[in-house]
This record gives sequence, structure tokens and C-alpha cells, in this order.
Amino acid sequence: MERIKQHAIWGHKGTFVLAATGSAVGLGNIWKFPYITGENGGGAFVLMYLVFIAMIGVPVMIAEVVLGRHGRANPVDSVRKMAQQSRVSPHWNLIGALGVLTAFLILSFYSVVAGWALDYMSTAVQGGFSGWNGESASAAFDALLADPTRLMLWQTVFIGLTVLVVAFGVTRGLETAVRVLMPLLFVLLLLLLGYAVVAGDFAQGLHFMFDFNVSDLSWQGASIALGHAFFTLSLAMGAIMAYGSYMPGKASIGKMVLTVAVLDTLVALVAGLAMFPIVFATPGISPGDGPGLMFVSLPVAFGSMPGGVVFGAAFFVLVTLAAWSSTISLLEPCVAYITERFGLKRYTANGLIAGSAWLLGIGSVLSFNHWADFTGLFGMNVFGFLDFVTQRVMLPLGGLAMALFVGWVARRELLRHELRQESERQFELWLTLLKYLCPPALLLILIGGFWA
Ligand code: PHE
Ligand code: NA
Repeated sequence: MERIKQHAIWGHKGTFVLAATGSAVGLGNIWKFPYITGENGGGAFVLMYLVFIAMIGVPVMIAEVVLGRHGRANPVDSVRKMAQQSRVSPHWNLIGALGVLTAFLILSFYSVVAGWALDYMSTAVQGGFSGWNGESASAAFDALLADPTRLMLWQTVFIGLTVLVVAFGVTRGLETAVRVLMPLLFVLLLLLLGYAVVAGDFAQGLHFMFDFNVSDLSWQGASIALGHAFFTLSLAMGAIMAYGSYMPGKASIGKMVLTVAVLDTLVALVAGLAMFPIVFATPGISPGDGPGLMFVSLPVAFGSMPGGVVFGAAFFVLVTLAAWSSTISLLEPCVAYITERFGLKRYTANGLIAGSAWLLGIGSVLSFNHWADFTGLFGMNVFGFLDFVTQRVMLPLGGLAMALFVGWVARRELLRHELRQESERQFELWLTLLKYLCPPALLLILIGGFWA
């Protein structure tokens, strides 16, 4: 423990909100949320998602920030400190270790998908998607996935960008990056929304996202919505805990967490509102197009619309920035852990972890081509397996463990002290949700995830 160095603190009061929003807003909002909404019936799914964010996501996020700020260390040592001061076994810190490991695994394949966005950005900038139709767009996407060299090139560029920011450290690297990236991201998103209003079928997009049919509610939809609520808020991966550990003591955790959750939700909704009108206005493509919605359907739409070259490019710049601020938050907790725990220099730890994630990422790259037929991992290829294990198993498991630990095991006075800016009623409401609602709900997605 004596090796733990002076732990950094954000230089500005509001940086936690920007950094955590940067972590939260990512491929989950722009790529995944619209297509799972499309696949699961629209309005009913959106409603369940919103309820889960508010009732389960927010309480767990508060718990995670409380652990980080109380511990003022990397996720592993932060949880250990809470355990020791609550006079229970220090091995509860396995929760932190699980988070760091999950972050590392996600980093490895998230960078590969983010690389696709970089590739599309370069296509868009070089003349856009003009003339693309459904067939040629699918062919273009398949051609990208079939080419391991091209995939690796963009994966490498993307990891490089992430390493660059993390190397500069918490205040000079992370803080500077999010202060520039986040406002830019919001401007781009609003621009695209404006474009959807003008060029797309906005009314139909609105109906699709907010018309609510009771018959569209389903258990599978609920399980997917709850899993996504966790993923989209970056929970249970050490990321939010690490960012919380840099938060100044005076800041109100409840207020900041609520702001992050609202911003993340807004971005997902606006991303949907920017994409569906365009999808509806283009013949031959539909909201249920699945994972290809962003990489196949949308380019077709951009390719056939006035101003599509500029807005298509802007869109993929947006996706790249959003993914970038997310991978930064995946790398940071791993680097913090290795530097503080094993006394490695920041540069060394950064290179070591990013290099390993890059290497493991090649397994995901090859899953789309040379190794596509290898399904030796419980019937899945490397990419499918990592995606499944992290999102369907490790994430709900980590969330469950955290809700149990903070809700039932940690000493109440310690929690109250971190949440001293909140009123007694707010505190009680939070603790009640965390103790009684979160664990059964998380158990349900953990188990339900194996059926869906
Ligand atoms: N929340 C991010 C998204 O929605 C994904 C992510 C998870 C990023 C965990 C960092 C940590 O895309
Ligand atoms: Na998100």
C-alpha cells in the first residue's frame, strides 16, 4: 500500500461530469441504442430503458462514485479501503479487480468497432457515400470486415489515439481531452438533428420512438433494455469509479451522477431522433436492420440526400469522438491500477496494457474473416465471446456485487459522509433502491441473459 502515489484530483469542479459523460456517451448510444430500439419495437422499449436508467442505473452509478471518491485510489484499492473501514474482508476488492479486467476486455474489442467508424470517416471525407444503395453498402461493409489488414490499421490508429491521451495523465491528458471533445460532440449531434428535421421524415421518427404499445412489452426486451442501461452508463467496469476517485470532496455526487445520466440518455434519444427520420425517408431500409443500421443503412441514406457528403462525414467524426472518450475511460482504470499497485511508471503501464489490448483485439479482428468459422468458445468466435462474457456476465455480476457490497455491507456512516450534500430523504431513497431493487433486478438480467 505504501507504493500508492499521490492520487490526482480534477482541476475543475465540473470535469467529472464531462469526463463521465465522455465515458458514457459512446458506440452504445449512437450505434447500439438505435438498432436495439429498432429491433425491439420502438416506444415500449424506450420506456423500459428510461425506467431502468432512473431506478437501477442511477443508484448503482452513485454507489460506484461513492466507492471511488471514498477510496481515492484505483478501483481495486478503493474497494479495499471501503471494506477495511467497514471491518469486513479486504477481499471484497475482487469487485474492483473484476471491473478492471472487464474494462481491459472491452477495450480490446471496442477499439476494433471504433476502428470501423474511423474507416467510414475516411470514406466519407473522400467523397462520401454518394451513389450507394442497399446492395453496394452491404458489399462495402462486408469488404471492410473481410480485410484484416484494413481492420488492424484502424484498430491500431484508434488505440494509438487512446494511449496518447492517457499518457498525458489525468489533468493534462484526460481533462483537456474531454473539455474539447464533449462540447464538439454536442454541437455535431445538434447539427445532425437539424439535418434530420429538414431532410428526413421527422414525424415518423418521433412516432416510432415515442408511440407506446403495451403489446410491445416483452421479457426479452426488458432484459436487453436493462443490460443496455448498464453498458450505456459505463457501470461496473471501474471507469466511473476511477473518474469518481478524482472528484473533489466538495462536489455533490448525486447531482453530478444525475447530470451524467440525463446527458447520456439525451444523446441516445437525440441519436435515435437523428437517425430514424433519415432511415424512414430512404426507401429500402428499415429501423429493424440490426447492427448494420449505422454502417449500411445510414450511409445509403447519406449517399442519396442533399448535403449528405458533409453530414455523413460529420456523423462519423461524431461517432469517432464519442468512442474515443469512452476508450480513454476504459484504459485509465487499468493504468491507475498497474501504476499504483505495482509501482510502474505511467508510460510503461500505459504501453503495456494498450499493447496487450491491441494484441487481444486482433482476435476480434480475425473473428470477422480468417477465424469466422472458429466457434470453439461455447459456440462463439473470439469477438462474440468477449462481447457476451463482458456484457451479459461480468457486467451484471459486477453490478450485483457492487449493489450488495455498498447497500448491505459497507458502513452507513461512510456512505452518508460521501453523500453529505444530499438530503436525508434523498439518501434514504438511494439506499432503499440500491438494497432492495437493484440486486433482484440485476440477478434477473444475469440469469435472463443466458436465455435471450
Ligand atoms: N458507455 C459506453 C457506451 O455507451 C461504453 C463503455 C462502457 C465505455 C464502459 C466505457 C466503459 O458506448
Ligand atoms: Na452510453
